[in-house]
Formats: sequence, C-alpha cells, structure tokens
Amino acid sequence: MKPRVLSGIQPTGSLHIGNYLGALTNWVKMQYDYECVFCIVDLHAITLYQDPKELLQKIEQTAALFLAAGIDPQVSSVVVQSTVKEHAELCWLLTCSTPLGWLERMTQFKDKSSKQDSVSDGLLQYPVLMAADILLYKANAVPVGDDQIQHLELTRDIAQRFNALYGETFVMPETRLPTVGARIMGLDDPSKKMSKSEAGSGHAISMLDEPGVIRKKIMRATTDSRPAVDFDSGGAGVLNLLTIHQAFTGWSDDQVKRHFAGMRYGDLKKTVAEAVVAGLEPLQERYRRIMADPGYLHGVLRESADRVRPFADATVRLVKQRMGIYTD
Ligand code: TYM
Repeated sequence: MKPRVLSGIQPTGSLHIGNYLGALTNWVKMQYDYECVFCIVDLHAITLYQDPKELLQKIEQTAALFLAAGIDPQVSSVVVQSTVKEHAELCWLLTCSTPLGWLERMTQFKDKSSKQDSVSDGLLQYPVLMAADILLYKANAVPVGDDQIQHLELTRDIAQRFNALYGETFVMPETRLPTVGARIMGLDDPSKKMSKSEAGSGHAISMLDEPGVIRKKIMRATTDSRPAVDFDSGGAGVLNLLTIHQAFTGWSDDQVKRHFAGMRYGDLKKTVAEAVVAGLEPLQERYRRIMADPGYLHGVLRESADRVRPFADATVRLVKQRMGIYTD
C-alpha cells in the first residue's frame, strides 16, 4: 500500500505563485508515489468573513487550478473539505482534547486576530480543523510551504496527546517542504511573505495574471541599490527573484550562479518574468478549458468525495470508539 498524503489550500483571494511553488508543484510531483487527498478548505476560509457568492466561485476556481497545475484526478482525490462531513466531526472530537493554551500561542492566530475588531472562535480552532484534515486520512506526509510548519507541529502534538489519552490511533504526519520555493516573498516588500490577503497590486503574482501583468509586476519588484547580481551580498529582493526563477525552471544552484552572476537587475527581471510567463501560460490555458466545462469539474469533486468518504468514516468511528462515544 502506498503511503498517504494530505494537503489543502484556502479558496480565498487569488492563488499566487507562492501557493504554486510552495505547495502545488510538490503535490504534482508526489502524486504518483503517494495516495493523495488535496482539499479546497472552505471551512477554513470562513474563519474570516467571506462574501458568500464570491466564496462559491473561489471554491470552483481553486479546484480548477489544482487540476490545471497537473493534479491528476484519476490518481488523486480533489475534495471540497465541507462535502466530507467527517472533517468537521473529527475537528470537534479533537477540540475536546486540545489545550486552549496551545491554540492561543499560534503565531498565525496572533497575527490574524490582531488585524480584526472581533475574532471568531473558528479562527482560534483553525489549527484543530487542520489537524483533523490530516489525521482523518492518516496522512504520512503533508506537503506545504514553510508558513505551515508550526501548524504541523501542533498537529503532531494533538495526535500524540490523543494517542496517550485513548490509545494508539493516529499516524504522525511528516512536514514536506519543497527544496526551492518554500517561502516566496512579496515583490513589493521582500521582508514579507507573499500572501493572498496582502493588498497592493505589486505584491503578488496571481497564477492567473496575464503575461503583460506578470512582466510589469516583476519589472517593478523591489531590489536594492546595487546595479547587478552579486551572490555574496545579494539583497532579499534579488534572492527572491532568483528563487522564483529557479523554482520555475528547475535549474541547479550552479546553473543559476553561472547564468546570473554580474547580470544587471533590468536583465535579471526580464529573464525571471519570461520564466514565470512560460511556466504559467500552459497552466492558464488548461484552467480556461476546465472552467468552460463545469460538469466535468463537478464530476471530479463528487467522485473524489465519494472515494474518500469510507476512509474518513472509518477513522471517525475508530476515534469515537476509543473515546467511548456511541456508534451505530
Ligand atoms: P494557504 O491557503 O494559506 O496556503 C496554501 C499553501 O501555500 C503555501 N504558501 C506559500 N508557500 C511559499 N511561499 C509563500 N509565500 C506561500 N504562501 C502560502 C502554504 O504553506 C500552503 O502549503 N492552513 C493552510 C490550509 C490547510 C492545510 C490543511 C494545509 C488547511 N488544512 C491540511 C495542509 C494540510 C493554509 O492556510 O494554506
């Protein structure tokens, strides 16, 4: 039997090249060696208010982007989280054995809640739902970008605590970061992670940005006052552009050094922009085809949910039995 993988992306904002390079490309690489479940985590999205009409569209767009990026629905399951009720059910069961202090310490909770006037209880529970996603399928590996490391550590803590209280039940999931692109920074401010929620048109490159827009954003990216690429003292903005190029082309460190050492920033930016355009154009073409056939997309989502439900149901039953909860 193949080892199992679970990962997810929130259907909020526009998916950007950080999501693509940090998560999606790794998913595509892993999918033939693992039994994979990839989720559009709509229940996570609503921990912050979402416009209902927009959310529904984003869910479908996100699913279409998974497929356009190369997820093969014949071998991987592409699941809208809320359509498999066991995610929410396991979340509650785990919530009851998760100490409040663990959740209050999460940096993403502290960061997101500091930006809100009123904080939902869901935002605090967010990482428990994420643990439920992972533990539900007994995932061995979780491919993510490096901003999810703390959530994955918490998932293992939650699993360990449950196992200690109720007996060996959950598998310990391993965090899988990509070798290049685990943390893509904002183009406008390379000290900040590229993020869906960060406003500012120069901040992120959306996976669906047109070539002209991609070129413009990269040409305007913040670098530093040096004139040309210097690997011994490259600033964060330049390193970020080099990382983006390397992740899109798959070049080795040596190739990158040989090609870019001493290159003027204007030429560097042009080269990076062309690599991003070349990487995203075929994906965008596939995305348009998928979106033109909603019946196909809905079919994939339905079949995937049907495929994973028996496994999810078995896990929840086991957890309930361990806890002494009645099962029919
Ligand atoms: P989300 O939607 O914020 O991001 C989805 C994935 O993209 C990665 N990522 C990045 N990688 C590199 N550079 C960046 N700038 C960048 N920004 C985002 C994230 O690390 C992530 O892998 N909590 C998760 C969703 C989730 C999940 C799960 C993930 C829910 N349940 C279970 C794994 C397993 C999140 O908000 O991702």
